[in-house]
Amino acid sequence: VPAGLAHLAAELLALADAGLLRERPPLHRAGGVSFCSNDYLGLAWRGKGAALGAGASRLVSGEHAEHVALERALSRWLRTDATLVFTSGYAANVGALSALAGPADLIVSDELNHASIVDGCRLSRATVRVVPHLNVGAVRAALGAGSFARRWVVTESYFSMDADSPDLLELRQACDERGAALVVDEAHALGVLGPDGRGLCAAAGVVPDVLVGTFGKALGGGGAFVAGTADLVAWLWNRARSFVFSTGVSPLLAAEVLVALSEVEARADLRRVTLERAEQLRAGLLALGLRPLGHGHIVPLVLGESAAAVALAERLRPLGFAVQPIRPPSVPAGTARIRLTASAHQRPEDVTSLLRALASVLR
Ligand SMILES: Cc1ncc(COP(=O)(O)O)c(C=O)c1O
Repeated sequence: VPAGLAHLAAELLALADAGLLRERPPLHRAGGVSFCSNDYLGLAWRGKGAALGAGASRLVSGEHAEHVALERALSRWLRTDATLVFTSGYAANVGALSALAGPADLIVSDELNHASIVDGCRLSRATVRVVPHLNVGAVRAALGAGSFARRWVVTESYFSMDADSPDLLELRQACDERGAALVVDEAHALGVLGPDGRGLCAAAGVVPDVLVGTFGKALGGGGAFVAGTADLVAWLWNRARSFVFSTGVSPLLAAEVLVALSEVEARADLRRVTLERAEQLRAGLLALGLRPLGHGHIVPLVLGESAAAVALAERLRPLGFAVQPIRPPSVPAGTARIRLTASAHQRPEDVTSLLRALASVLR
């Protein structure tokens, strides 16, 4: 058990002693007569196969075979003991961080962490120290000062607005030196980056205490998960409010995400094509004298003022290219950008045409 989460075993025992530990309820089955779901009109089961809706929070009666199958497959894929599926990445981060950290704790958070991480930190009521982007020295300094019940470090593995990554090995070491727990959100990396698309923690050989991923990005669906030890998942099952007090993720969606996951595992070619398109895009931008940020399948191009980013996107749209301008508060003031994303559905000639259009618009 990682030092940072060692306390969970005792906390779970305390819950059990108080008779308050929630265990998994029996599965909700098609054809079974239920008197404890919220599917008042019986519409959740109108299709064949998986139910459209879980019918209730999974703690109450919303536990379906599709949830369990997806969580098992994710644990096997990511080589973690256990996984818990949430309805979104936003719910996963807010639920996990606020369930794990408390008012006596310290959270050290990268200044560019996603809003869902920021909100999770706020809801936890822990002391939050925001550190400069990717700065492990600052993480070490922040972890070292003051006296706290527990310490947490939270980061993304592949920042979606800058396409850059922290040194996960260094962060792991910094955490281990202080008995802190490491929380890594792999939302944009999973499926594309790392060995077999298993993310940048896997690439670095780092085991985070808490691993967050979403299905809304490379897996092409919606929903998300938190993976780690069995105690972590048991704790979140009992204490993550965005999980406990919310209808379980759609079983139909869970079944489809399981199919997408098997595609991710089987189709190394999709990953290769995506990264080839990204390389083509990056090389083409460099040839135009532009400097895309970072690495990998997200290709951000900083333009400065919001108006410049909006104008570029507006001029590309009539030429048939959907390009998103990113402005404050999503990014710091004065760093508005367009954020190009590579995908396996793009053909090489699509990238060439975009580059040609960009060249003509910028000229
Ligand atoms: C790093 C990161 N975490 C979490 C989320 C939220 O995930 P979801 O869209 O599944 O709510 C996003 C973006 O949406 C993200 O970029």
